[in-house]
Amino acid sequence: MTDTSSMKLTKIPRHVAVIMDGNGRWAREQNLSRIDGHKKGSEVARQIVSKCNELGIEYLTLYAFSSENWRRSPNEVSGLMELLQHYLETEAESLNNDNVRLRIIGERQMLPNNILRLVEAVELMTKDNTGITLLMALSYGSRAEITHATREIAQKVRDHRLTLEEISEETISQHLYTHDIPDPDVLIRTSGEQRISNYLLWQLAYTELVFVDTYWPDFTPEEFVQTLLEYQERERRFGTAA
Ligand code: FPP
Repeated sequence: MTDTSSMKLTKIPRHVAVIMDGNGRWAREQNLSRIDGHKKGSEVARQIVSKCNELGIEYLTLYAFSSENWRRSPNEVSGLMELLQHYLETEAESLNNDNVRLRIIGERQMLPNNILRLVEAVELMTKDNTGITLLMALSYGSRAEITHATREIAQKVRDHRLTLEEISEETISQHLYTHDIPDPDVLIRTSGEQRISNYLLWQLAYTELVFVDTYWPDFTPEEFVQTLLEYQERERRFGTAA
């Protein structure tokens, strides 16, 4: 069990977003296949979901597959899809027992039919759960999300359901996949890379960014708590004066 005694429980973030990076490099260093790296990564993801749930974090968003990931080798893409299928089949029951609510954000229509059906079944099974909401970003790209929102808003203007003057920042937020989810308080990216990689660009406007060197498969619940402690030590002023 992780020692969370130094956590300020009043400042537990509501929403943590994660870029789980470094599976491939971890695998190479262990002389394993990239898919082995993703497999270990999915086990770590499960541990972090449990830790977040235990801490009372309300939302966890995991970048499991980006729109750009479709361009990886067919072998890696099908391996990742199989892994996802395996994850959903084997973990659905346990996620449900842990009161986790699963939701997918991304271009659903891009997903293979079997994955889409599975995802929808798990979403349905867990929809009334009251523990953590696990948002899995699948075939997700933030520019595509904003483009999609823009088209919907433009359509409403064309149909006279909205006027130009009525369009506000809130209008944009309300048309994103995350329309009913608070913006992330903290973004964690593992593996030493310091980029946002087309992830939640709108939603991260005031989010604390924390980059850690550890490859995702080596990331532990203990280090996760350490990372949250770093977040807690920072002051968030939302661009206002101190
Ligand atoms: C980045 O590592 C990670 C991904 C592209 C996919 C993340 C997927 C998982 C952790 C497994 C599936 C998750 C679940 C929850 C079922 P990378 O391949 O870019 O690593 P590299 O930068 O070292 O090559």
